[in-house]
Amino acid sequence: MKLNIAVLPGDGIGPEIMEQGVAVLNTIAAKFGHEIEYKTAICGADAIDKVGDPFPDETFEVCKWADAVLFAAVGDPRFDNDPTAKVRPEQGLLAMRKKLGLFANIRPVQTFKCLLHKSPLKDELIAGADFICIRELTGGMYFGEKYQDNDKAYDTNYYTRPEIERILRVAYYYARKRRRHLTVVDKANVLASSRLWRQIAKELEPEYPDVTTDYMFVDNASMRMLVEPKFFDVMVTENTFGDILTDEGSCISGSMGLLPSASTGESTPVFEPVHGSWPQAAGKNIANPLAQILSVAMLLEHFDLKEEGILVRKAVDASLDANVRTPEIQVDGGKQYGTREVGEWIVDYIKNSVLI
Ligand code: IPM
Ligand code: MN
Repeated sequence: MKLNIAVLPGDGIGPEIMEQGVAVLNTIAAKFGHEIEYKTAICGADAIDKVGDPFPDETFEVCKWADAVLFAAVGDPRFDNDPTAKVRPEQGLLAMRKKLGLFANIRPVQTFKCLLHKSPLKDELIAGADFICIRELTGGMYFGEKYQDNDKAYDTNYYTRPEIERILRVAYYYARKRRRHLTVVDKANVLASSRLWRQIAKELEPEYPDVTTDYMFVDNASMRMLVEPKFFDVMVTENTFGDILTDEGSCISGSMGLLPSASTGESTPVFEPVHGSWPQAAGKNIANPLAQILSVAMLLEHFDLKEEGILVRKAVDASLDANVRTPEIQVDGGKQYGTREVGEWIVDYIKNSVLI
């Protein structure tokens, strides 16, 4: 297969983890005889510094040229600590999602057997937990009308029927591919936008009689995720709730550095880690590249390259089993590996594995 890939490393640890993601993708391509053409483009604080725009037109053009975007992370404390900043790195990510029409963000939450003890939750509670969060990605408070002056500010949680219906259908599609259990997460006891979500979900439910649908308020869901994560199979929720719940999901996996995601919709899909740019770690070779590498696995699977995706996942599992881990998930007293060393180990594993 020939694939055009846009590479957007962004800020902070972005370039370091991206290097490993691309190395893994190249290794897979060489092994399976795929041809990949890359174009790298700027975004986030890096792009603000260079051209004053966190998602410049040239970057958008590269994304449109590509079959898929591999994205790392954006964000910079210079902007976080300045509430008056008019241009912010995160706007680049949001502009990319919006302009590419990426309304469905698929965020799987899984456990790795050898990392159960890294979770703050009890092993027996999380062992075997495996669910996906389908986060609506181009609507809600992130994109609704905003206002801010010195005395008041608001964000509007705006959703329309077609936006809600299409994301619910994506969620049902995934539920059918999995254990046929969908949990619609909302705050319908308080928010009008949530009541519309629930109304539309109730309308669609009879079309999917083979799927068990249940409804849960987001506060309850955030608690249930910690006390009974195995309850969930597919959850679907609006943009803001999905953002919050998926960071919480990393507590089940054991590290933010383990969660990949796929953003799909109307045009070029984007594959990106759930975590941010961790500026404090930039350049230190300590960031976990696995979320980026697992995002590569999701990219391969998106193009139906199943064996390729499986091999990446196998290599990741093997690295964890072999204790080739970055500091935040290393066993006490174990040797700590850097971002680069973990990536190189995985690349070697893929190179040396025998295809059957
Ligand atoms: C995420 C991130 C982004 C979001 C930020 C960087 C804008 O936290 O992908 O979860 O809030 O969507
Ligand atoms: Mn987030």
